[in-house]
Parts: sequence; C-alpha cells; structure tokens
Amino acid sequence: MSSPIGIGIIGTGSIVNNYIKCISELEEANLVALYTKSSDRVKSAEKQFGVPVFSNVDEFLAQNNLDLVCICNESGRHGEAIKAAAQAGKHILSEKPLEVTTDKVDEVIKVCNENGVKLGCVLQNRCSADYVLLETAVKDGKLGKLLMGNAHINWYRSEEYYSGSDWRGTLQYDGGAAFMNQGIHTIDLLINLMGEVGSVYGKVQTRVHRIEGEDVGSAILNFNGGAIGNITAGTALYPGYPERLEIYGEKGSVLMEAGKIVEWNVPDTTAPNITSKDGDGSGAADPTAIGHQNHKTVLADMLMAIQEDRSPMVGADEARKAVAVINAIYDSSKKEKLVQL
Ligand SMILES: NC(=O)c1ccc[n+]([C@@H]2O[C@H](COP(=O)([O-])OP(=O)(O)OC[C@H]3O[C@@H](n4cnc5c(N)ncnc54)[C@H](O)[C@@H]3O)[C@@H](O)[C@H]2O)c1
Repeated sequence: MSSPIGIGIIGTGSIVNNYIKCISELEEANLVALYTKSSDRVKSAEKQFGVPVFSNVDEFLAQNNLDLVCICNESGRHGEAIKAAAQAGKHILSEKPLEVTTDKVDEVIKVCNENGVKLGCVLQNRCSADYVLLETAVKDGKLGKLLMGNAHINWYRSEEYYSGSDWRGTLQYDGGAAFMNQGIHTIDLLINLMGEVGSVYGKVQTRVHRIEGEDVGSAILNFNGGAIGNITAGTALYPGYPERLEIYGEKGSVLMEAGKIVEWNVPDTTAPNITSKDGDGSGAADPTAIGHQNHKTVLADMLMAIQEDRSPMVGADEARKAVAVINAIYDSSKKEKLVQL
C-alpha cells in the first residue's frame, strides 16, 4: 500500500465529527491538522480532535504531509478556504454547497484549474446503495421516457438551530436556508436523474424563523428533456418528514424516502429487497441524525482519485448544477416570473 494521504480540515463545527470517524476507519487516510478562524477555539479544538489546530491559515497549510484539505466551514466561506488551499497546491474535498452563488462556484473552479488541484464536493447521498440502483435503472432506460421528477424536503429545524448560529439562515454565509442548506442533497439527486434544467418557477417565503433565508418554498422545474419537476422544501414544517424523491417514467416509477427505495414499480426488473437496507438516516428533524457511511465512501473515492490521478466521484461541474437551480428558484421568487437557466 502506498503511504497514507495526509488530511487537513478547515472548520471545527459539527460536521467535522463525521470526518474524524471516516478518517479513523480508512487506512489510507491520516489526519494531520485542523484550521479554525477563531483563535480562542484553538485549545478546545486541539483537546477535542487530538491534532494540532491553527487559526493562521498559512501555518495550517504549511504542515508537512498535507495532501488533501477538507472544507467544513460555513458554506459562504467555502470559497475563501478553497482558494487558499488551491493556491498552496492542495487537493480539496468541499462540503456542499461548493459556494452559495454560481459566480463564486465558478471562481473556485477557476482557481483549482489554474493550480492543477482536484476539487471534489460532498454530495454523499449520491452513493447510497438504493440511489445507485435507481440511477442505474434510469440511465439504462428501464423507466422509459422520463415524465416527472419530484423532490420533497419538508423538514423542521428549531428556532435555536438558527439563533445559536452566526451563519445558518443568513444570505451571505448560508446562501439562503431550506433549499440551499437542507434541500440541496435531494435536489442534486433529482437533477442527476432528470437531466439539465431549462427553466424554473419558484416561490420561497420566510414564515416562522427569524432568518434572512427561506423556511418554506415550492418550485416547478422544466427539464430540457421535456419532463417536469416539483420541489417543496422547508425547515418550518413541524415535525419534519423524511425527504422524498419520486421519479416517474413512461414505463415505471420509483419512490425513495429517507434515502431508501420504498416503491419500485419497474417492469422487467427484479425489485430490490426494500425492507432490509441500512442507510445513513434522515436529517428531517435532527441535523446530527445523519450517519457517516456515505461520507466515508466519498472520502475513500477522493483518496483513490488522488492516488490514481483521476476525477473525483462528484466534481465541481456536477456540484455547480444544484447551486444554479436553487439560485434560479430564489431569483424567480423575487421576480415573480419564470427564470431560464
Ligand atoms: N454533507 C452533509 O450532509 C452536511 C451536514 C452538515 C453540514 N454540512 C456542511 O458543512 C458545513 C459546516 O456545517 P456545520 O453543521 O459543521 O456548521 P457549524 O456551525 O457546526 O460549524 C461551522 C463553523 O462554525 C464555527 N464553529 C462551530 N463550532 C464552534 C465553536 N464551538 N467555537 C467556535 N467556532 C465554532 C467553526 O468555524 C466551524 O467551522 C456547511 O457548509 C454545511 O452545509 C454538510
């Protein structure tokens, strides 16, 4: 086996615990250091994570054997972190969204290309076993011509979830709320199956939480292939229901709930055993309820991509798509008209 790949993490918040578990379970991964923007967090973070923690980004990036930087800070700060890592010649695996606007996503793609480093994005639900079954069926044409694809992320977050954070629900650092933070995973799965989106009509509202972003919203999508789509998303929809993905084709349909197939009606295929699947769970009501297995698959793929000098499973161009659709939905809601992508 070649020597382990040294990993540094930018951010010391709740999602970092997932990475710590993944790294400890992957032989080819070695945690080197972390970076936090708050100097008063350094000591407690070193105690928590057991490796050196820096509040100076240059010192963090200068650590020996640092090959890959995982971006786990606030969404609207991903860009500055990605740029710093890319300019230091490090490969990058960023949490979703890559950035909160398409202009900012394009900037990070450019800087990574200029510096010859790989940029992967964590949209980990793409590698759940059930989703892969559905993806294969759709891509093999088993559902026939696609007619309609729906994503429903009708979740709930408490007021404390937002009031206890200086970035969640803000336009600058979260890019919005229910669509950009929570809904993006299922929206990404939907677009990946249904193809390019031509136009959207969206309506988003802030009804319950004291935040800038939306806590309830709905959108109609027109896919370039002719199919239509519906998205509903929220973080005010008590008590929070498992997210659903529905794909309807001319020949058959498949429904998923909380990452698992709950209906498989596809002629000439064997229905998967839909009662015995382990999954990563749903963050419908509790953001900490997600497991780490899909994150581990994404990280393992990124390590292989570095070793084999190939593209990661979800690269930047793929990750850009959901950010573009979500921003078009926001734009449509503001203008009260159909927006072309
Ligand atoms: N892929 C997923 O399913 C998933 C799940 C959760 C979060 N995320 C993404 O990960 C990123 C970070 O989210 P998070 O939930 O970890 O946010 P978080 O609020 O827990 O942490 C974000 C940042 O806040 C600061 N912070 C957190 N706790 C701190 C403390 N005790 N003292 C000082 N500073 C502190 C740190 O700078 C940290 O990097 C976001 O981009 C989010 O979209 C992805």
